[in-house]
Parts: sequence; C-alpha cells; structure tokens
Amino acid sequence: MESRVALRTAQLQDVNARLSAEIAMRAQTEAALARSEERLQDIISMMPLSLFLKDAESRIVLMNQACEQQWGVCFQDIAEGRDIQHFPSDQSAGFHTADREAFASRSVVIREELVWNAQLQENRLVQTHKKPVFDAEGRPQMIIAMAIDITDSKRNEENLQRSLAQLRELSDHQQTIKEEERRRIALDIHDDLGQNLMVLRIDVSLLHARTAGTHPRLHSHAQRVLDTIDATIRSVRTIINDLHPSTLELGLGPAAEWLIRQMEGRGAIRYRLHIASDAPHLGLDQRQTSAIFRVLQESLSNIVRHAQASEVEVALAQEHDAILLRISDNGIGMQPGDDGKRAAFGLKSIRERVHALGGELRIDSQAGQGTALAIHLPQSRERVADVS
Ligand SMILES: Nc1ncnc2c1ncn2[C@@H]1O[C@H](COP(=O)(O)OP(=O)(O)OP(=O)(O)O)[C@@H](O)[C@H]1O
Ligand SMILES: [Mg+2]
Repeated sequence: MESRVALRTAQLQDVNARLSAEIAMRAQTEAALARSEERLQDIISMMPLSLFLKDAESRIVLMNQACEQQWGVCFQDIAEGRDIQHFPSDQSAGFHTADREAFASRSVVIREELVWNAQLQENRLVQTHKKPVFDAEGRPQMIIAMAIDITDSKRNEENLQRSLAQLRELSDHQQTIKEEERRRIALDIHDDLGQNLMVLRIDVSLLHARTAGTHPRLHSHAQRVLDTIDATIRSVRTIINDLHPSTLELGLGPAAEWLIRQMEGRGAIRYRLHIASDAPHLGLDQRQTSAIFRVLQESLSNIVRHAQASEVEVALAQEHDAILLRISDNGIGMQPGDDGKRAAFGLKSIRERVHALGGELRIDSQAGQGTALAIHLPQSRERVADVS
C-alpha cells in the first residue's frame, strides 16, 4: 500500500513538473508573440505609407500614423466612437462600395478616389489598394488597405502635360512662321531679283544680237555674260524652289512627284511613288501640306545620307478622314539609339510636326532590314467637308 502511494505521488509530481514546464513554455511563447506583435505595430505605425484595417462591416479597426495624417483624424476618436462620420456621406458610400467589391471579387481592388482631409479641409486624390481577407469558412473577415496620396504627382503630371502641349504649340507656331517666311523670301527673290535678271538678260541678248556682225569681240563677250546670267537664273530658281517649292501650291501629290524627280537626278536610288487619290490637295490645308512635304523631304534626305539603300517606296493614301504617308527603304536599317541621338534633329522635327497636327508617327526598322517611317494624320474638318 505504501509503495503504491509512493508510486502515485511520484507520477503526480512528474505530471506536475511537466505541466509547470508547459505553462512556463506557453508564457514564454505568449511573451514572444506579444513582443513580435508590438514590433509589428511599431513597424506599421512608423510606415510612411498610409495603412488601415476594416472589419467585414467596413468599420475601421486599425490605422497607422500616416493614415491619421492622410485623413486628418485621430484613430483614438474613431475607436472610441467620437468621430463616426469623418468623411462626407458620398465618399463613405463610395468606400463601402469598394469594400463590397473587394469581398465579391476576392482579389485586390485598386481605385483612385477623393478622400477628405479633415485637418487640411480639402479633398486629396488617393490611390487605394484593398485586399479582402476571409476566415477559415470563407466568410469576409477584414479588409487590409493601403493608400498613396497622388495629389501632387497627379498635379505635376498635369502641369508637365500642359507644358508639353504648350511647347508643341510653340514649335508648331514656329514651323508655320518659318514656312511663311520661306514663302515670302522665295516670292521676293522671284519678283525682285528674278525680274531684274530677266530684264538684264533681254538687254544683254539685244546687245549680243546687234554686235553679231560688227563687233566680234564685244559679241563673244556678250555671249559669256549671257551664259553667266543664264547660270545665275538657274541657281536663283533652285534657291527659290529649295526655299518654297512652287509645286507646293499645287498640292501634296504634285509636290511629292517633283521632289522625287529631284532626288532621282541626284543619285542611283530607284524611287517608286504611289498616290492613292485623285484629289491633288488630298483634303489638306496649306499648313498640313507643308508639314507632310517637309517630313517627306527629311525622310528622303535621311535615306540618301544614312540608309545605303537602292530602292525607296513612297506611298501616299487617303483613308476615311486621314492621310497616310509611308516611306520605306531597303537599306541598312537603324541602330538602337539612332532615334534620339544627340545633335540629330531630323527625326525630332518630324515627330514634332506630326504631333502638332494631331497625327501619329511610327518608325519600323531593324539592322539590315531597311527602315519604314509611317505617319497617320487626321485631315482638317473643313477640308474633309469640302472634299466629300
Ligand atoms: N532611313 C534610315 N536608314 C538608316 N538609318 C537612319 C535612317 N534615317 C535615320 N537614320 C539614323 O537615325 C539617325 C537620326 O536621324 P536624324 O534625321 O534625327 O538626324 P541626322 O540625319 O543624323 O541629322 P539631321 O537630320 O539633324 O541633319 C541618323 O543619324 C541615322 O543614324
Ligand atoms: Mg536627318
């Protein structure tokens, strides 16, 4: 009997010791868990990113300092029920809809929304990411959300876009002025220098005719002067045409044909031009005509200078209410980084001209596979109406 009691006592002591050890272990684990939760709370509260948790009924259960600042509220006031309606009612309704959406989609919902800041007394634009969390049975449990204030970056972006648009307008305006100036100088040279040269030529040819039999030396001298005047007239014509091709007045089609004929005379490249329209003006106004002409001129000059091509195809087409121009060559193609080179302005000016007219530019090129530059330009409305 005594030995049974001793055995039982020993067993009980053993169980007791194990229980005490387990209790000590559990206390340790709980302390460690509490410490780690405290650390997590510290991390959350120190995070510069606004973070908050909501329960399944969209009640705020936790928020960090960044969130308090973003909303201009104090979490304590919300938790203790002193601040129930801190957002305007239409905003609250929107947030609840987003919460329900996150639970329904069972995935992260990202939204840009206006959030009232009670301290600043203004709305801030915020990008909110909401992740729904479900319990073991799959029922909505909480929403983990983070929110980034994008008011300033959005404002900066808008300012940047506005500046870019202004720059484009300015560049377009400058191009127009430049084009008008070129046209005026071309006309002045034509009307002034050109006319004077013609008068001079008539006088010298009279002198040349009258001295034929009587003054052989003066006659041959007059012939040399005539030759010089003819060469000057030719070079003045070239200058006038370079400044403002007279064919531009006839429309883009004839101007493109003229330009290609000029290019053919300068080298061994074979050019093919397709114009898929009967209307010489292709429904373009003077500004658009000049812009597309200059794009074509720069593209062809690039091909001659850089492409080492033997064939070039230029296609000009009219599609619905847009003009399509495609210039392709079978040359060496562009290298990565060519489009954007420093101190290279041709492609930049093409891009500016096209954008200023509300068009799109595409360059397809691969080393050894040639280059194709395509532009798509909407026609001006009045013209579209005229043509149709
Ligand atoms: N058709 C082409 N084939 C091969 N390379 C090309 C072609 N067009 C342009 N490039 C390359 O792209 C670069 C940029 O062209 P861009 O017209 O902007 O400048 P650029 O012709 O060098 O100088 P700029 O036009 O200012 O006188 C060229 O230097 C050239 O290397
Ligand atoms: Mg160039």
